[in-house]
Amino acid sequence: MTEKIDNLIEELKKKFEDIKTLQELNDLKVSYQGKKGIITELNSGIKDVPNDEKKEYGAEVNRLRTFFNDNFSSTQKRLEDERVREKLEKETIDISLPSKRIKTGSKHPFNRIIEEVEDLFVSMGYDVIDGPELEDDEHCFRLLNYTVGHPARDAQDTFYIDEEYLLRTQTSAAQSRVMEENKEKTPIRVICPGKTYRRDDDATHSHQFGQVEGLVIDKNISLADLKGTLEIFAKKLLGEDTNVRFRPSYFPFTSPSCEVDVSCFKCGGKGCSLCKKTGWIELLGAGMVHPNVLRMGGYDPDKFTGFAFGTGLDRLAMFKYAIPDIRYMYTNDIRFLKQFDRKDDEYEIKY
Ligand code: DAH
Repeated sequence: MTEKIDNLIEELKKKFEDIKTLQELNDLKVSYQGKKGIITELNSGIKDVPNDEKKEYGAEVNRLRTFFNDNFSSTQKRLEDERVREKLEKETIDISLPSKRIKTGSKHPFNRIIEEVEDLFVSMGYDVIDGPELEDDEHCFRLLNYTVGHPARDAQDTFYIDEEYLLRTQTSAAQSRVMEENKEKTPIRVICPGKTYRRDDDATHSHQFGQVEGLVIDKNISLADLKGTLEIFAKKLLGEDTNVRFRPSYFPFTSPSCEVDVSCFKCGGKGCSLCKKTGWIELLGAGMVHPNVLRMGGYDPDKFTGFAFGTGLDRLAMFKYAIPDIRYMYTNDIRFLKQFDRKDDEYEIKY
């Protein structure tokens, strides 16, 4: 029996060596371990073997089966490895070919401005807060000292949802919300950047636009603090040689109120088409918080004072990057957006 198995093993060894495909390997398996396979038949032959030889017979058949199984796995691995190697050889990559250009996005000018403004005010100790875009008349107007029938409440300017709710027309609404939440706690030092809405649509106005609001409340806050803060704001954002001027103005929620102009960045103040020959460009509105607003917000105007300011973010971006039409900011034209993939100091901006 041992000799017979030795011979079968010898024969099998050659067969395994000659095998070239997985199909041949499977055929071999059938002829040895299939229903009528050699190993299967030897196995069932045990019943005709005399009892005292059964043990040895069984062991010998097992030896053949183990040999078969071991060689089957190693041959299978050899064939699979060969297949992968052949595939890789066929698929050689020419690393000298130019690669496909990967198109990356770039930060929208609106977000660039927001980040810049936030960084500046955070460095001066301000918190950045958020307010609802769907506001109520109470916070957007009444608590900000707008009288009933004030033109800003007109449906021609404001998108009303119903009698009570509207899309906020100004981030100033955040002022009344912060006061309400803080209830006489001071200091308040916040900015609120966000989206605002008005019924407007032309080259310099869009029905949706962005504003940033600033509010400071504490004891002994004066107009000098407001002036100093806004001078830093204008110079950091638009360049150190920017001149700033304050003009008296009117807003219901501030008193005194002012508008802040900066020297024209195109002509440096000499007068050109951008500044309509005045040398100045209007940047923002500001003022000392009106005593009525403080009172309605829960702050005693005899103890506390504050200042507020607000400006258009799109306007700032348009100034900073010489963007001629506000609608470019919202139409997502890739040719426009692609231009904002560099750092600020890598631009040479022409107005
Ligand atoms: N909310 C005003 C507007 O949309 C801008 C503004 C003016 C905000 C004066 C202020 C301020 O905080 O003090 O036109």
